[in-house]
Amino acid sequence: MASIHFLLLTAAAVLLSFPSLSSPLGFNCTSAMATATFCRSLVSFTPTSNNATLSSIQLLFGIKHLVPLLSTNNLPATTPLNATLDPSHPILVPLNCSCSRSHHTGLALGISYKGPIYKVRSGDTLYDIANGVFAGLVTVGDLQTVNGIANASLIKVGDRLWVPLPCSCDEVEGQDAVHLAHVTSSGSSVEEIAGEYGVAQSTVMAVNGIGDPRALRAGQVLDVPLRACASSIRNDSLDSRLLVPNGTYAVTANNCVTCSCHAINNWMLQCWPSQTIKPSNWTVCPSMSCQGTGLYVGNTTSSSCNRTTCAYAGYDRQSIFTTIVNEGTCPGVSGNFAGRMSSPILTRILLLVSLWLLNLHPTLEGIKECC
Ligand SMILES: *[C@@H]1O[C@H](CO)[C@@H](O)[C@H](O)[C@H]1NC(C)=O
Ligand SMILES: *[C@@H]1O[C@H](CO)[C@@H](O)[C@H](O)[C@H]1NC(C)=O
Ligand SMILES: *[C@@H]1O[C@H](CO)[C@@H](O)[C@H](O)[C@H]1NC(C)=O
Ligand SMILES: *[C@@H]1O[C@H](CO)[C@@H](O)[C@H](O)[C@H]1NC(C)=O
Ligand SMILES: *[C@@H]1O[C@H](CO)[C@@H](O)[C@H](O)[C@H]1NC(C)=O
Ligand SMILES: *[C@@H]1O[C@H](CO)[C@@H](O)[C@H](O)[C@H]1NC(C)=O
Ligand SMILES: *[C@@H]1O[C@H](CO)[C@@H](O)[C@H](O)[C@H]1NC(C)=O
Ligand SMILES: *[C@@H]1O[C@H](CO)[C@@H](O)[C@H](O)[C@H]1NC(C)=O
Ligand SMILES: *[C@@H]1O[C@H](CO)[C@@H](O)[C@H](O)[C@H]1NC(C)=O
Ligand SMILES: *[C@@H]1O[C@H](CO)[C@@H](O)[C@H](O)[C@H]1NC(C)=O
Repeated sequence: MASIHFLLLTAAAVLLSFPSLSSPLGFNCTSAMATATFCRSLVSFTPTSNNATLSSIQLLFGIKHLVPLLSTNNLPATTPLNATLDPSHPILVPLNCSCSRSHHTGLALGISYKGPIYKVRSGDTLYDIANGVFAGLVTVGDLQTVNGIANASLIKVGDRLWVPLPCSCDEVEGQDAVHLAHVTSSGSSVEEIAGEYGVAQSTVMAVNGIGDPRALRAGQVLDVPLRACASSIRNDSLDSRLLVPNGTYAVTANNCVTCSCHAINNWMLQCWPSQTIKPSNWTVCPSMSCQGTGLYVGNTTSSSCNRTTCAYAGYDRQSIFTTIVNEGTCPGVSGNFAGRMSSPILTRILLLVSLWLLNLHPTLEGIKECC
């Protein structure tokens, strides 16, 4: 196994990784106080093989629940696991981000919490794992640091490596954000990347400490903070930190509630009862009415210049909270929020090329696994 070829490759990997050993591990995450902070963060991943499926992504990134992967990509909750992904489009992968302050350096940084875990296969080098399997989202140096590997050539088949993906939980410009890690491909610019995700170029530059956009290097991992919708979710709710970026949806409250974010709706999160997904921890979903109004979560009534919405306000072990939201929006749109989900928004990010080749029977396979 330790062929000359293998050794040369690993030697090359060590040399190539050398500059990154000096760069910090993860993105800045200054919101981390004395204790660690957790949040949901994203990585943009372009599968290297042309037969990647949702289940291969799920396996690689150790994603327990399929629904968050689907909702982050604005794919219907009934998407079959074996649907083939378009290799020319990135898929957004959710991960659990942990931010903490190093006792040694004093720096507060964010990396994926205890995962994903990669099991070393025959012929793998750290260089392949970092740049091939994980498409440059991690460096050889970072793999060595968190796994305590002093000599990069000393990895064995079957070793379980923690892959520390960069992430952050920080607010950006005073607003909640969902941070996305994006690997710069050669020939792309800060302007192009910022435009692709609907973020201001100046924001991307500030967050990444880029003074001159021409200094962007191919392979550099950029922190792209996606703006999330504001909501009426209470701070004592189990999902008080639910952040949904523009153009995506989220399924929450034990699958009972679906919420979506569209910038055109004033950056306000819109939620309604999930209809096609089974509740995960309740046998039936608890009441979702706004008491004394006859309205349910997602219902809206409008009179001349006043729109009243029964909004989702979070959940606890027993119940789902609701609240009445009044808006004085004269030329605004009115109507029920329910049913908005049918408009596919983010299909530009991910095209399921083989979708129409498949039977589109709602495969409940993925949903069963949720939660
Ligand atoms: C991340 O993991 C921690 C520790 O297991 C857990 O407390 C937290 O709820 C998780 N956060 C998310 C967003 O999954
Ligand atoms: C993709 O194809 C390669 C060979 O072409 C094969 O080794 C691999 O198992 C396939 N992966 C999946 C998920 O089907
Ligand atoms: C996906 O799975 C379904 C049922 O499990 C099967 O009918 C279909 O042929 C599969 N499609 C592919 C591309 O493997
Ligand atoms: C790393 O391990 C390889 C294989 O055992 C060895 O040849 C090499 O000298 C080691 N490198 C360092 C810097 O210790
Ligand atoms: C929000 O998302 C929609 C659809 O994906 C897109 O057309 C629009 O430009 C985005 N707006 C912002 C401000 O990001
Ligand atoms: C990250 O934080 C450190 C220390 O607080 C700071 O010096 C550095 O400029 C920050 N990096 C970016 C990209 O903002
Ligand atoms: C939660 O919200 C309530 C009222 O909005 C506020 O009084 C309280 O301080 C908040 N608690 C925390 C922990 O933020
Ligand atoms: C599920 O519900 C039970 C009973 O209400 C509760 O004890 C448990 O913590 C819940 N689990 C989750 C994951 O919410
Ligand atoms: C209120 O919402 C419920 C649940 O989504 C829906 O069945 C009902 O038709 C809505 N009522 C009105 C008046 O929009
Ligand atoms: C809108 O109507 C509700 C009752 O339907 C009322 O309580 C509220 O004060 C009104 N808000 C505005 C801004 O007129």
